[in-house]
Amino acid sequence: MTLNTASIPNDTLAELEAADRAYVLHPSTNLKAHAHGLSNPQIIAGGQGATLRDAHGKEYLDAFAGLYCVNIGYGRSEVADAISRQAHELAYYHAYAGHSNEPLIALSERLIRMAPPGMSRVYYGLSGSDANETQIKLVWYYNNILGRSTKKKIISRHRAYHGSGLMTGSLTGLPVFHQAFDLPLPQVKHTLTPHYYRRDEDGMSEREFSRHCAAELERMILEEGPDTVAAFIGEPVLGTGGIVPPPEGYWEEIQTVLRRYDILLIADEVITGFGRIGTTFGCEKYGIEPDLMTLAKGLTSAYAPLSAVLVGERVWRVLEEGSDKLGPLGHGWTYSAHPLGTAAALANLDIIERENLVRKSSDTGAYLLGSLREALKDSPIIGEVRGVGMLAAVEFARDPARRLPFDSVHKVGVRVYEACRAQGVLARAMPHGDILGFAPPLVLTRAEADRIVDTTRQAVAAVTEELAAKGALRGS
Ligand SMILES: Cc1ncc(COP(=O)(O)O)c(C=O)c1O
Repeated sequence: MTLNTASIPNDTLAELEAADRAYVLHPSTNLKAHAHGLSNPQIIAGGQGATLRDAHGKEYLDAFAGLYCVNIGYGRSEVADAISRQAHELAYYHAYAGHSNEPLIALSERLIRMAPPGMSRVYYGLSGSDANETQIKLVWYYNNILGRSTKKKIISRHRAYHGSGLMTGSLTGLPVFHQAFDLPLPQVKHTLTPHYYRRDEDGMSEREFSRHCAAELERMILEEGPDTVAAFIGEPVLGTGGIVPPPEGYWEEIQTVLRRYDILLIADEVITGFGRIGTTFGCEKYGIEPDLMTLAKGLTSAYAPLSAVLVGERVWRVLEEGSDKLGPLGHGWTYSAHPLGTAAALANLDIIERENLVRKSSDTGAYLLGSLREALKDSPIIGEVRGVGMLAAVEFARDPARRLPFDSVHKVGVRVYEACRAQGVLARAMPHGDILGFAPPLVLTRAEADRIVDTTRQAVAAVTEELAAKGALRGS
């Protein structure tokens, strides 16, 4: 596959960049630096497979699949064609009051068949954030219908990411998503991050650490009062908080506690769904039996905005009771179940199935992680290299043996990210701590994996030298 390398002429590009600074308010961006030209707009012009091309014609290997979402890679005309066909046939009609259409019905049946046992119905939104917002409303509705008017609190985890709406921004456990937004809202509590490497005490096995996380959760439930706690939400593998696979036995221990106090479990599979971690869903890999599941990203590989809330039988039965008591469900968006999204999802799932991408993710992911570990094993600034399937992370440490981090002034994660970027590889400097994240398209080839690893090794070596020159390394 070759990319069209025609780039935009320089003066047009300068005008575009100026207009971007003048008119666009970008998400998760230093607004002032961007508006005043202290950082440059990155205008992306095209993509094919795992490769992106910017407006200057420079190519990048996208080792983060956009935002962990372009699972099938860029430029898949099957999906573009499916969206186009659907736009010609029926670009839009709403799904309120039982209105439906073929792709909506086909996708819903397909998702329920793919999902873990016990899932019953699918509600659609446009983003992971709005889907999690729906989850919380359904949980509250459920308890209200059951007459449990105090059972409303939601427990999430520090360093979780569940979106950036009012409620979902509250569920997110990263300070940057709270500060100056008056979040988190009081109904949300955060418990321990299941990150074994960052445990407070030495001398605890992984399994003991999982038990400790579950005991802390139970302590919080008892302190708050079990009749006030409605649900627990978790990503099977913690994502934006640092790409952290759970410690051994974590989900088993957590579920035991939740069952004891009749607390619903929401599995946020926005990242882990559709092959990202080498199984169709994270629930399958970790033995999670959710009451509700959140899907987005890999559902359409981001070719169109679409998210899904999967509702388990136990919750569904109570929602039905709600109809007897209250009439129609008072929840919906104009664009719920948008036909362009559902058509894109069906074409995307065809590709995932036909090209065996779940299996490929497991194989290429194991190769990528093994190669990263090997390439970085002698580096003095590596705390942990971790991952599962096509998710991997390198966490930097000033003193790896004692698990001591660098002072944040050194911005080690950001510098390694920039050094990789200069060599044409896009990883992600994770927003919390010095962590470099990888989540490539599942179609990544081994040669592309080699390039990611090689570039990372060189970038780490270059940043290590800079840190040594500044006296920022342990013992220097
Ligand atoms: C686990 C998880 N949940 C929810 C979201 C929010 O999704 P969106 O950005 O589509 O609103 C994200 C986004 O990265 C996520 O990683």
